[in-house]
Amino acid sequence: MGGSFGFLHGVSLCCGRVTKYYSNLSSTEVVFRLAIMDALLKTLFSSEEQELYVLDCLAYLMMVMAFITFVTLLFEHVPYGRYASSRYGFPVNVKVAWFVQELPAFLVPLSLVLWCPCAKIMHLPNQSLLLMFLCHYVQRSLIFPFLIRGGKSTPFISFVLAFVFCIYNGYLQARYLSHYADYPPGWVTHPCFIIGSCMWFLGWIINIHSDHILRNLRKPAETGYKIPRGGMFEYVSGANYFGEIVEWAGFALAGHSIHSAAFALFTLIVLSSRGMAHHKWYLTKFENYPKSRKALIPLVL
Ligand SMILES: NC(=O)c1ccc[n+]([C@@H]2O[C@H](COP(=O)([O-])OP(=O)(O)OC[C@H]3O[C@@H](n4cnc5c(N)ncnc54)[C@H](OP(=O)(O)O)[C@@H]3O)[C@@H](O)[C@H]2O)c1
Repeated sequence: MGGSFGFLHGVSLCCGRVTKYYSNLSSTEVVFRLAIMDALLKTLFSSEEQELYVLDCLAYLMMVMAFITFVTLLFEHVPYGRYASSRYGFPVNVKVAWFVQELPAFLVPLSLVLWCPCAKIMHLPNQSLLLMFLCHYVQRSLIFPFLIRGGKSTPFISFVLAFVFCIYNGYLQARYLSHYADYPPGWVTHPCFIIGSCMWFLGWIINIHSDHILRNLRKPAETGYKIPRGGMFEYVSGANYFGEIVEWAGFALAGHSIHSAAFALFTLIVLSSRGMAHHKWYLTKFENYPKSRKALIPLVL
């Protein structure tokens, strides 16, 4: 409950900041920036209907990519971290890789919100969903990379794919929510929005807490692996992935769109494969690995 109030307080703070940002700019500056971005969008799309059509196509394309990824991951692990391989290009420093590859998922939405016409930005469901997306990617791009301890370098191809995905998804989610998504009056009190937002928040906390546990398994300069204990790791090997899957499933439930559903599906495919692979890896690596611990879904799988 306290979390929900904190979250709503965050929403109003953020809206206040956007309004303050605009009021601090001279009106010529605002008009100039909006005009540049508007011109850019107009060179890309001949009408709003066309841009919305492209956004829908991008969402369906992400679902197709999720299916292709699913098939690929039956034969290959996602190639970074403990499964990094030189077959996927030269190694990129892990902190640089996470910072640069995730940054577009924060900067693209921020630029769209600040410098593009945003017809729906004043609506509470749109603001709340955008804020959820931004909160995650502020943490993921500006905080998470700098806390990593002894992480393996990321192969260049994995790094580039993640970078492109973050631009793609940043544009898809933020543009749809800021300019097109139409929610019925009172959507923030609809059970889908309330349950979805709570799932998003709970999943986010589980994800951050689990990443914190993993990070603290290593002393500074250590690079080996240990058995994670505590939090959701008592139930599943992929506790951080479980959190992130719940998070984006909640976002999709609250957002009720093919755009948010495509992202949740993509996350589910990538992270469930990784969670299952980690579980098998722990069982072969540690004889004393807890036998009752599941791979990804507490008590089930
Ligand atoms: N939305 C998405 O599609 C998506 C996709 C990928 C990742 N993510 C998120 O990004 C975050 C990181 O993902 P990840 O795949 O890198 O997670 P991970 O494989 O669990 O690794 C996270 C960090 O903890 C270290 N680590 C993991 N297990 C350890 C152990 N048993 N002992 C000591 N250190 C350990 C890793 O070191 P090493 O590098 O040395 O293994 C790495 O630095 C997660 O929160 C995940 O949910 C999201």
